Amino acid sequence: MKALILAGGLGTRLRPLTYRMPKPLIPLLGRPLVDHIIDPLPAEVDTVVLAVSYMKDALDAYFSSHDVGRKVVLVNEEAPLGTGGAVKNVAHYINDTFIAFNGDVVCSVDLNDMLHHHREHGGIGTMALWRVDDPSAFGVVGRDSRGRITSFQEKPAKEEAISNSINAGVYIFEKELLDHIPAGVVSLERDVFPKILNKGLHGYEFKGHWIDCGTRENILVAQRTLLDLGGGRISPEMIKEDDAMLTGVNMVQRSHLRGCRIGPHVYIEDDVLISKGAEVSESMVLRGALIEEGAKVQGSIIGPDCVVARGQAVKDQIVART
Ligand code: GDD
Ligand code: MG
Repeated sequence: MKALILAGGLGTRLRPLTYRMPKPLIPLLGRPLVDHIIDPLPAEVDTVVLAVSYMKDALDAYFSSHDVGRKVVLVNEEAPLGTGGAVKNVAHYINDTFIAFNGDVVCSVDLNDMLHHHREHGGIGTMALWRVDDPSAFGVVGRDSRGRITSFQEKPAKEEAISNSINAGVYIFEKELLDHIPAGVVSLERDVFPKILNKGLHGYEFKGHWIDCGTRENILVAQRTLLDLGGGRISPEMIKEDDAMLTGVNMVQRSHLRGCRIGPHVYIEDDVLISKGAEVSESMVLRGALIEEGAKVQGSIIGPDCVVARGQAVKDQIVART
């Protein structure tokens, strides 16, 4: 079976970090976001097709040097084709039922169970659903009593949303879906879903966690969630001196903590130096960054090789080279 990961978005809401790092390669507890999608794919998935466009070379370099346990094929779009165009563009790899994933979703969906559900219900596809309080930033579904999707709205105004069940960005499709995607730039959500409802598109609800990592806030929610699920780890190569203090669950790689206070929910990558009197909480500090004396970092992402100056306070920001 093939799994398709849509990974061609520009990551605009994560700029400036995504000027130099495509969204699928943003580290989440030491591994790129996309690995968190690939790892739990069912055993029957032998090939992962990545539909890419933005920063294809960086993705190519990552997959050429890391074995993720399956064959990975990168299919490039000269210019982004939209989520539907991206599916059509990989048509020659699709020969049967396939899984498709938005490349920025971290969640606990059980794909084996979802496949079972799909095979039981039949139809052209099954869409994983998640409940949120405010569905206006997502695709929203209406369903009949048997769970079949009867209407689909992409990013409706809050007062117009027909439910609070949203498209989780994880699908199982039959190959037949390809016949319903026209050529060119096409949005699955706006152009295709509303037209295939009569072919049988079913909803599949699941429990646990679901996060769309498209924003700073949500990446940090994903990091916190995975840390709280047992992802904390302190590298034996970390150097801690001058009574540096760690509180709560954190992941700290080969870095240097000097008289600072770290935690909770902090990820610190290799070759980072955090200086005396600095405080870091609910944040990500990437490779080679320097946090100077007395600086405070909260709810933020500090990109590779960036410096937070002495005494500076960084709250709810992305600091990265442009
Ligand atoms: N290959 C390719 N080409 N991939 C693309 C393109 C493109 O032109 N445009 C977007 N993508 C990828 C993005 O990289 C991302 O992984 C995924 O498709 C979804 O795009 P986003 O830009 O993140 O969309 P969204 O978060 O606003 O909305 C989508 O996801 C929600 C759930 O997270 C929609 O599918 C909503 O319906 C859904 O609720
Ligand atoms: Mg998204």
